[in-house]
Amino acid sequence: MRIDILSLFPEMFAPLKKSIIKRAVTDEKVEINIINIRDFASAPHYKCDDEPFGGGAGMVMMCEPIYKAIESIKTDDCKIFYMSPRGKRFSQTKAREMSKLEHIILLCGHYEGVDQRVIDMFDMEEISIGDYILTGGELPAMVITDAIVRLIPNVITPDSIVEESFSNDVLEYNQYTRPSVFMGYSVPEVLLSGNHKKIAEYRKKQSIEITKKNRPDLLKEK
Ligand SMILES: C[S@@+](CC[C@H](N)C(=O)[O-])C[C@H]1O[C@@H](n2cnc3c(N)ncnc32)[C@H](O)[C@@H]1O
Repeated sequence: MRIDILSLFPEMFAPLKKSIIKRAVTDEKVEINIINIRDFASAPHYKCDDEPFGGGAGMVMMCEPIYKAIESIKTDDCKIFYMSPRGKRFSQTKAREMSKLEHIILLCGHYEGVDQRVIDMFDMEEISIGDYILTGGELPAMVITDAIVRLIPNVITPDSIVEESFSNDVLEYNQYTRPSVFMGYSVPEVLLSGNHKKIAEYRKKQSIEITKKNRPDLLKEK
């Protein structure tokens, strides 16, 4: 899979060079390219934003540098997503869907956003990471990249994906590790029993209880 991220602030993407994502890149499970939109702006000022037509606060990212940047990287089967609070909400289901694509391009907006014409020209899908406004699309692009890359086959242990929150419309059960007693707090007995059937039943019950308490909407959606 190939992920191209278009941004005015490429230096913000250091977190994608760590841990599991770094290993996925090294193992060639995914190619991640960070493209500086400003490299496609015109000399001498390399201007990428201007005032909005019709007036209003803030600046709007201009069409031309984004257009040229996309033209330089797009492929026949690529899908382009614009990070936008106006988009449909990103979810684990969407991450699964996107992880099956060959080539995606993530466009990060900044300031008041991006000139609508470039969004329309490339038939971009707007995608939001939640109902709040961030200063730029860089964090959303990293959130989406992280969520997608860990779903690419064999990037992490397949079993880890099967039982985690949202994979079965419920949240995950509590996790514990050594020591079995910490400052008087004990691990639930059943987890030390070695009885896998009982452990599975206990975890399933716990998952439902935690979901009822924290996210009853997930159970209603079933
Ligand atoms: C300050 S925001 C612009 C908000 C825009 N004026 C609006 O009201 O919808 C700047 C950029 O941050 C990104 N952004 C902000 N919040 C986001 C969110 N919740 N999800 C995805 N991208 C977001 C987008 O790329 C956006 O173009």
